[in-house]
Order: sequence, then C-alpha cells, then structure tokens
Amino acid sequence: MITKGIVLAGGQGTRLWPLTSVVSKQLLNVYDKPLIYYPLTTLMLAGLRDILVISTPDDQPLFQKLLRDGSQWGIALSYAVQPQPDGIAQAFLLAEGFLAGQGAALVLGDNIFYGDGLTNRLRAASKRRVGATIFAYYVDDPKRYGIVEFDPHGQPCRIVEKPQKPRSHYAVTGLYFYDAGVVDIVKGLKPSARGELEIGEVNNAYLENDALEVELLGRGHAWLDAGTPDSLFETSNLIRTIERRQGLKIACIEEVALRCGYIDRQQLLNIASEYPGSEYGDYLRRVGNEV
Ligand code: TTP
Repeated sequence: MITKGIVLAGGQGTRLWPLTSVVSKQLLNVYDKPLIYYPLTTLMLAGLRDILVISTPDDQPLFQKLLRDGSQWGIALSYAVQPQPDGIAQAFLLAEGFLAGQGAALVLGDNIFYGDGLTNRLRAASKRRVGATIFAYYVDDPKRYGIVEFDPHGQPCRIVEKPQKPRSHYAVTGLYFYDAGVVDIVKGLKPSARGELEIGEVNNAYLENDALEVELLGRGHAWLDAGTPDSLFETSNLIRTIERRQGLKIACIEEVALRCGYIDRQQLLNIASEYPGSEYGDYLRRVGNEV
C-alpha cells in the first residue's frame, strides 16, 4: 500500500528558455492553471495525501507560496530541493527522510495524464503491496523515449532508453509507483554516461526481479508534457478545448479534493472567495453549489 507521493519539479527547462530563465517550467501556465496542478492532482486521484514537492532551490519559495502546506486542500505538502538536475531517480535519495522507510509514487512535474478510468487504475497501483507499477503509453515516435519491450507472451521483458530500432511503441511515462525497496535500489546506482541517476535502471531492476507491473495506456488516454514551446501551446489548446466543450475543468485541485473527500463544500467555497473576479473562482463557486 502506497500512501506517499513525490512531484519532481526541478530541472532547468532549457528547451523553454527564455520563458524559464526566471521561473520554473512547472509554474508556467497550461491554459488556466499552473502546470504543476496537473501532476499534483494525478497523485491526489491516486489516493495520496502526503506529498513532497522537489524543486530547484531558487523556485522553492514560489512553489510554497502557490501551494502552501496543502491543508487548504486536505493534503499535507512538504518541500525539498534538488540543487542540480542529477537525474529522476535522485528524487528517492532526496526524499529518504520524507519516506521514512515507505514506498512512494513519483510523478514528473511536467507530465499531464488524462483519460477515462484513470483514477481506478491509479488507485489499484497505490494498493499494490510489493513491487512497482509503471504506465506505458502508445506513441508514434518511440525512438525519443524509454520503451518497454514485450516477449511473445506479451509480458514486459526489457526497457530500452531511446532505441535506434524500437521493438514496441509503448513509452514509459513519468508516473511510477515503487515499494519501500526503491531507496536501496537507487543507492546502488551509479550516474550514467550523461551524469544522471536513471529511472530506467530502477525499472529494469524491478523487472529483473519479476516485480514490475506495466499498465498500458492505449487509445482514450492522453499523456502530454509541456517541455517545448509547441507542446506547451498545444497542451494548453487541448485542455482549453476539452474544458470549454464540457464546462468541466481538468486538474482543478479544489474540485479533486472535494470529489476525493479531502475537503467539504464549505471549505471549497471558502477558497473560491479568495478568487473573486476570476473564471476559476466562478467555476469553484459553481462546483461548491452543485446539488
Ligand atoms: P526534462 O524535460 O528532461 O528536463 P527539464 O525539465 O530540465 O527540461 P529541458 O530538457 O528543456 O532542460 O525533465 C522532465 C521532468 O523531470 C521535468 O518536470 C523536470 C524533472 N526533472 C527534475 O526535476 N530533476 C532531474 O534531475 C531531471 C532529469 C528531471
């Protein structure tokens, strides 16, 4: 059973310069809310309420100003810094005290997951007692990603980073659930040729122990990131299109907290009163007054 979550929101955001020269990528907007709202709500939907946000030292005060201690949303947020982008797996070394011997789900701060039935699959991953769960997404251009290869029985057999000749189209996404063994696995890693502690090696360690579940996200799901000007723009556009068509918001933290039972209607309406004159505040008032 996993009860803790980590959002890894460091990095340099080089591909978005000059947008990221003074502010973290994860604080930029995806349509009507900051990017970090999306991965944060993914963890909340997984049933996790004890969450560590890891960012660069410069950005940490900004994340704290935006997200506070989480109690307004019925969750507990704590903060840690990653001085350099030394690899995704380093999150578990930085989080060792926070984890206190438990496992955790890790989500990358620029990853957006959306699709019907996702919440149930996230909850199932949190409930698993041993091993690891990763989510793989069918992509058109597998050479750009870590790819899961399958044996003739359809079982995952290998994860290959940016393969020249990809043997599948399933890319490893930035959402990982690990049992308590993950910290020791990361402690055994050496930095790769590019100087990073690689999350792919962690996944391969679980795979070799027959302890890796790969959940496939097929048609009907969206896995997006916001790493380049075009993907930031296109993702904003997509979120805008869906939200305007349905009149429902994606990754509205307060609504997710209400629907997960972390806060009640009155608490949501109290937050709404902090946003007078904004469309976001109007939406919260509507959700809070729904019968
Ligand atoms: P990347 O997109 O690989 O890196 P980046 O965000 O710094 O962007 P760029 O490549 O343009 O320089 O990172 C993916 C996500 O993981 C992003 O949310 C940042 C986060 N990350 C860290 O926080 N620390 C790390 O050490 C790494 C490698 C990534």
